[in-house]
Amino acid sequence: MDEIDPWGDVEIGDYNEKMERFGIDPVEEIADRFPDNKLVRRGIVFGHRGMDTVLDRYENGEEFAMMTGIMPSGVFHLGHKSVVDQILMYQEMGAQVTISAADVEAYTTREMSLEEARRLVIEEYLTNYVALGIDLEQTDFYFQTDGGNDYHRRSKLFARYLTQNEVDATYGGAGPGKIVSALTQYADILRPQFPENGGPKPTVVPIGIDQDPHIRMTRDVVSRYREREFHKPASTYHKFMRGLQGGKMSSSKEKSYIALTDSVEDAKAKIDAAKTGGYQSLDEHREKGAEIAEDMVFELLAFHLIDDDDELERIRREYTAGEMTSGEIKQIAKDEIESFLREHHQRREEAEPVVEQYVAEHDL
Ligand code: TRP
Repeated sequence: MDEIDPWGDVEIGDYNEKMERFGIDPVEEIADRFPDNKLVRRGIVFGHRGMDTVLDRYENGEEFAMMTGIMPSGVFHLGHKSVVDQILMYQEMGAQVTISAADVEAYTTREMSLEEARRLVIEEYLTNYVALGIDLEQTDFYFQTDGGNDYHRRSKLFARYLTQNEVDATYGGAGPGKIVSALTQYADILRPQFPENGGPKPTVVPIGIDQDPHIRMTRDVVSRYREREFHKPASTYHKFMRGLQGGKMSSSKEKSYIALTDSVEDAKAKIDAAKTGGYQSLDEHREKGAEIAEDMVFELLAFHLIDDDDELERIRREYTAGEMTSGEIKQIAKDEIESFLREHHQRREEAEPVVEQYVAEHDL
């Protein structure tokens, strides 16, 4: 199979190599067509497929859509926040926003009960999404199991347009659970274009590159599906922030992430224990400077905590020159996470009744 496993562990390594191999285009070339956004500016959103069609629409003030999905996997941590930052950007750009909660996928591929998936999505994800600024009233939010008859019907009909060879090449030995979840995801991706949602329109799907196989397959399905017309979905790909200890950030490794529900104290302790690119001995550090590429604290600042490019650049300069120590960069990160979490926890409290009411009104 093709090296990118949408259900597997993601450690990408060389993003450029993957882009070339799979024909993903660099965002750099079209970055100035996006609204000002730090993830785009910093190349954290690094690749795309077909994004021109979406930006053309946007620039002409015409209708377009953004859709993405939530896989309930445990606590909501900073790694998940990059997607929300992008949803917020598209919300502001006036996109028609759709968010799918992937309970069919969690049930069929992760042995999770539907009840647990629902609880996690509502308590962890939805509440944090609202606290971060997502307007549920302007969003088509649904659980896959509740996707409706048309959605489930189409997800089955798509099966006719994929060959065994393609499925094998893309998904390896995917069994029934993975196949069902893949077909369901194609219906997610095309949902903003269903007649009940206003018909065909350019749609962008912001995802990690691990989900690219589903985009490729959906684009193939669209080119062959005759029952209805769809625009080929566009996509953007963001880099994954690595875990605080290096390696992968994972919901199952508590010290690898900062959860948005972590106490300020716990978050600071995790930063204190993080892997840095500084040298053990101060003399050596002053002489050689930090290896910034191996510094998880700098990564945390770049992905999440420092908005101002000049400020980030100053930190990079001083740290790589050995003028700033690992203790000092950690202190910056601890101050920033403290103000972020204090504010976020406050917003979460305000979000809770909003979500509660939304859940009741929409019978979720
Ligand atoms: N499979 C995605 C994940 O594991 C979740 C998902 C479901 C999704 N439907 C989607 C992502 C539609 C993007 C678009 O994270």
